[in-house]
Amino acid sequence: MIATSRRRFLAGAAAVTAAGFVPTRFAIGNQAPVKVGLMLPYTGVYAQLGENITSGLTMSLVGHGNRLGGRPIEYVKVDDESNPAKGVDNATKLVKGKEVDFVVGTVHSGVAMAMTKVMAKSPKAIMLCPNAGANALTREACLPNVFRTSFSNWQTGYSMGPVIAQRGHKRVVTLTWNYAAGQEMVSAFLDGFKAAGGGEPAEQLWVDFPDSEFQPVLTRIAALKPDAVFAFFSGSAAVKFLKDYDAAIDRTQIPLYGTGFLTEGVLAAVGKAAEGIVTTMHWAETLKSSENILFMGDFRKVAGRVADVFAVQGWDTGTLLYRAMDAVKGDTGATQAIIKAMEDAEVTGPRGVWRMSRNHNPIQDFYLRRVEKGQNLVEGVAVAQLEDPGTGCKM
Ligand code: PHB
Repeated sequence: MIATSRRRFLAGAAAVTAAGFVPTRFAIGNQAPVKVGLMLPYTGVYAQLGENITSGLTMSLVGHGNRLGGRPIEYVKVDDESNPAKGVDNATKLVKGKEVDFVVGTVHSGVAMAMTKVMAKSPKAIMLCPNAGANALTREACLPNVFRTSFSNWQTGYSMGPVIAQRGHKRVVTLTWNYAAGQEMVSAFLDGFKAAGGGEPAEQLWVDFPDSEFQPVLTRIAALKPDAVFAFFSGSAAVKFLKDYDAAIDRTQIPLYGTGFLTEGVLAAVGKAAEGIVTTMHWAETLKSSENILFMGDFRKVAGRVADVFAVQGWDTGTLLYRAMDAVKGDTGATQAIIKAMEDAEVTGPRGVWRMSRNHNPIQDFYLRRVEKGQNLVEGVAVAQLEDPGTGCKM
């Protein structure tokens, strides 16, 4: 196995040299590692998301011999702190300073958009976004060397619109953090809600990111008595939000809905306060496919915890990486061929089947899920093979 990939790599390296590029290999048995930058939150409200993306990614690559196109892998980690103000500096450190071949990042939409400024000036490096849903990343700010393996914020919000409308809820309050992810999910939800006959929002409520002081907005919801609430919070703040909502609001009177992040990676900590919550998401831990069952078991063995959607996105980022690097036999200089392999990707994995859109964003199913006994149970498919419109992307 190793011998075969070495032979393939040697053939690739020779071609690269002949074409006049710097050889990526110094001597037999001494291959230069492929440098993979991990620009993710390892502290703060999204720390657990960063950890699970990292575990999913490394698990995927270890499963492929811990090599990319036959070459060893060197990871360079940066904690981006979910801080957009530091985004350009952190990405520059990795792409220019450390000269990484690939940069995997990140979770927060604002930080991801800062990263694209660096990627626009570094067309030889490739960015794989394993979470952040900023619509612009694969719309007006799309780039040939930027791919997303997760979702656009529009996809996650839009898929919830018909669900709430069809349940007959008319007066719906939206509640989220006041930054790109929350704003875009709410706006997309309202689009989907209106398209399904749902009408105008009763009120839009906002909390500053990354605050988790929810009493003022919960008091407002209790006073408004809407038919339902649509919310987005994530990470450690979602744990507190679900507990606070349950304590302050009678959920049989004012049910809570949201994008699936609300109930990802938090159910064990939240307990009963999450039971019955309905969300949409491009994955669920209870999907019965053999790929998902295998993934859940392996992740528990390797990471010692239950997988969540962030782990899945890390895993699929690994899938894209090793496939593209196999396609070029480890030649990181073959940027166009790497891009082509990623564009052609059709992945059958834990979330089901998805493929890369023209704008470099997954086209995928959004499942309807309800929390029961501490798990997101799948009730069906809310929207099949949903594609972000990609408006304004020219490439
Ligand atoms: C985002 O900022 O795009 C974001 C962050 C956390 C999530 C989902 C989206 O769970």
